[in-house]
Amino acid sequence: MLLTHDKIEKNVTLLIVLVLLVVSVGGLVQIVPLFFQKSTTEPVAGLKPYNALQLTGRDVYIREGCNNCHSQMIRPFRAETERYGHYSVAGEFVYDHPFLWGSKRTGPDLARVGGRYSDEWHRVHLINPRDVVPESNMPAYPWLAKAPADAATIQAKMRALRAVGVPYGDEEIAGAPGALKDRTELDALVAYLQGLGVAMRSAR
Ligand code: HEC
Repeated sequence: MLLTHDKIEKNVTLLIVLVLLVVSVGGLVQIVPLFFQKSTTEPVAGLKPYNALQLTGRDVYIREGCNNCHSQMIRPFRAETERYGHYSVAGEFVYDHPFLWGSKRTGPDLARVGGRYSDEWHRVHLINPRDVVPESNMPAYPWLAKAPADAATIQAKMRALRAVGVPYGDEEIAGAPGALKDRTELDALVAYLQGLGVAMRSAR
């Protein structure tokens, strides 16, 4: 007997089963190739893993919740590329664990903020945003200038990242605590911000 659409629509269980089947096949067809596609798994040319100072800054960024107000994902629309530069591509994020793409933009997208301002601008801005952008409603983070960068956990962090595919060498891991010596969390955060998006800067 022919299975007509009438019968599917009247039999709720059958409808649910068939819907789940269609959704899973459709989902798998979209998702699975991404795990094998070069453009999503290979780093873009010039992309380097975060160094010890930048990695520490990234953790400060996460701890302070900067990602609640700032996305790091430029969408391929003219209004965005005119403002922020080349749209984001998957190969820029292969060393990011976790991704900080975000969706909330109380402040501007930061995916390509690296090199847009001087280190000094960032320092002043982070200690009190109103000093450089009078109308800013971004919170001030003055304590970062006094907090020492955390050298005790950096090696464990880098080893953990290496385990998930970030190519850190033994030498870089050995030298990591030294690279954080006498640096503050503010130094680390600024170093992180200045590295954002620079691998693809030439494509702007
Ligand atoms: C409550 C929302 C909010 C939070 C949280 C926040 N910001 Fe902002 N941020 C803004 C707004 C709004 C602006 C635009 C005004 C300005 O430049 O201060 C901005 C601007 C910036 C800029 C300049 C971007 C540009 O292209 O001009 C940087 C860099 C920045 N924020 C970094 C950070 C960092 C790092 C943190 C975490 C320590 C953070 N922000 C937390 C709202 C926020």
